[in-house]
Amino acid sequence: MTVPRLGLGTSGNDDPEQCAESVRTALEFGYRHVDTAQMYGNEAAVGRGVRGADVDREDVFVATKVHPENLAREDVLATAEASLDRLALDYVDLLYVHWPLGAYDPAETLPAFDALRDRGLTRHVGVSNFTPDLLREAAELLEAPIAANQVEIHPLLPPREDLVAACEDVGADLVAYAPFCRRDALDVPEVVAVAERRGISPAQVCLAWLLAKDCAPIPKATGREHLADNWAALDLELTDEDVARLDGIEERYRKFDPDGSPWQD
Ligand SMILES: NC(=O)c1ccc[n+]([C@@H]2O[C@H](COP(=O)([O-])OP(=O)(O)OC[C@H]3O[C@@H](n4cnc5c(N)ncnc54)[C@H](OP(=O)(O)O)[C@@H]3O)[C@@H](O)[C@H]2O)c1
Repeated sequence: MTVPRLGLGTSGNDDPEQCAESVRTALEFGYRHVDTAQMYGNEAAVGRGVRGADVDREDVFVATKVHPENLAREDVLATAEASLDRLALDYVDLLYVHWPLGAYDPAETLPAFDALRDRGLTRHVGVSNFTPDLLREAAELLEAPIAANQVEIHPLLPPREDLVAACEDVGADLVAYAPFCRRDALDVPEVVAVAERRGISPAQVCLAWLLAKDCAPIPKATGREHLADNWAALDLELTDEDVARLDGIEERYRKFDPDGSPWQD
């Protein structure tokens, strides 16, 4: 995979001091992948956390996302530079199209991402909330390979086979956002049952299940306890029986479903 297998989400980590501290602590625990976005309003704090940790910049995979309203060509170019200024970094490792909404126009938006990659301002190009059709269309238009498609995946919304196949076709990693469905998944009876049987936390069950499916989860966590709990999931392996039990959860829903989302077509 291009993307490190377990990353740190930062959406909603809004207090700048706390956010920088969460990022610094995560990196010192061993995390090497940090996810932010123009939309989260915390790029400056994330950058402070990255620069403040006792870890070389080259060893950290920093991802940010261009806001859907900033996806016209000139806005992509200008706001990506503004993101780097806020992060106080020379480059990001991954720059995503945050949603195929707003000003997204594939023929105009995607060449701007290529241009930023050519200029070394991002190492990789990614997309987020893309359906199989949108992913294939983007792969045709981009010169850069698509490093990742970041989508909502958790035990209440497992990865769809057609999306997994499309990601494989274009060589994109599947990055799982909201891996706990914003905590809802932590109370699901099947998740709790596997956690109790294994003597691990429900959060670790969700993460181990995602890792077993070759997804790269990016749980958001703020304090040391959650950061450590989630990081330890990298060493856990679920049995086939546990994976099947989680796959069999009947309740299904999507947490992030803004008006105009491509799957609503
Ligand atoms: N591309 C997109 O459109 C998109 C959309 C949504 C999210 N994302 C990305 O994905 C990241 C993760 O998603 P999310 O933040 O929406 O939700 P999430 O990761 O599913 O859930 C975060 C919640 O889980 C709690 N938590 C973390 N570790 C825990 C543990 N070990 N035990 C119990 N509770 C725990 C957190 O609490 P504390 O904060 O108190 O630790 C927080 O309340 C975001 O931060 C963002 O980077 C991307």
